[in-house]
Amino acid sequence: MTVLAHAAVHPGSVLDLHPLSSALGTEVVGLDLSKPVAEPLIEAVRMALDESGLLLFRGQRLKADAQVAISRRFGRLQEVAQKQYQLKGQPLIYVIGNVEEDGRPIGDPSVGRLWHSDQSFLPHPAIGSLLYGVQCPPEGAATLFANMYAAYEALPPQMRTLVGRLHAVHSFSEYYEELRHRDPTQPALTQERRALYPDVIHPLVRQNPQTGRKALYINPGYAVSIQEMPGTTGARLLRDLCDHATREEFVYAHRWQDGDVLFWDNLAVNHKGTSFDSARYVRRMHRTTVAGSAAIYAASMVG
Ligand code: SIN
Repeated sequence: MTVLAHAAVHPGSVLDLHPLSSALGTEVVGLDLSKPVAEPLIEAVRMALDESGLLLFRGQRLKADAQVAISRRFGRLQEVAQKQYQLKGQPLIYVIGNVEEDGRPIGDPSVGRLWHSDQSFLPHPAIGSLLYGVQCPPEGAATLFANMYAAYEALPPQMRTLVGRLHAVHSFSEYYEELRHRDPTQPALTQERRALYPDVIHPLVRQNPQTGRKALYINPGYAVSIQEMPGTTGARLLRDLCDHATREEFVYAHRWQDGDVLFWDNLAVNHKGTSFDSARYVRRMHRTTVAGSAAIYAASMVG
């Protein structure tokens, strides 16, 4: 069993940590997220997340309020843009999947089928997301994660210098139109929602505020163009960088079991959902989203 030494920094904060794959991810064994967790252990979880970008906790049983309570230990929670899929009675939980109640879909059936980083369309994007597998199909529906630190570090030095000077436009409305193109059952975007989420600009490289490690911060879901390179040159660079970031050696595919909780850092990883046989299986996932802030965003700026 691998127990990483860094978690022993604070007395009483030792976590049992095991690598999930050669690309990224760490499993945290033996922590029950439904019970009160002491602050030194929460601090150790934060440190593990800073190092690894993705944490797995297996065998959890989380009622909605317990999920909200443990998620809150890592920051202020944020409601998602897709209000129609908030859990009844607990709007901080975003229901994902083909689940129905009283003959009505209550989960977002087609979220995240493009590589993305949660809420990169906001001026201060979400820092973390915690996804709980309530009911998971026995096949399909893996969630893929790409290590954006490793993707940045693998770029040739001149390319690292170039991308360090560039900014991308991130667009909720273009993402949504692409989603509707793939799933025409989704309602059209109202003017009101379009106005709520205007396009935003982010640098192509951000750093972890604690470790200073740099990550490539682009994703094909929301990043639509490069500000300093209009036209095909920028479009090609963006596409090449996104392709580079999803090379096999940077990607981990999580095959869900009921009770799995994944907690990821949206600066460190991009992620993407995959399909499953929705005529045969029900999938129900509950996500909470830890909000960013102006201060966290400023601390992630390089230079
Ligand atoms: C997400 O994009 O937050 C969800 C991914 C998934 O459903 O696998």
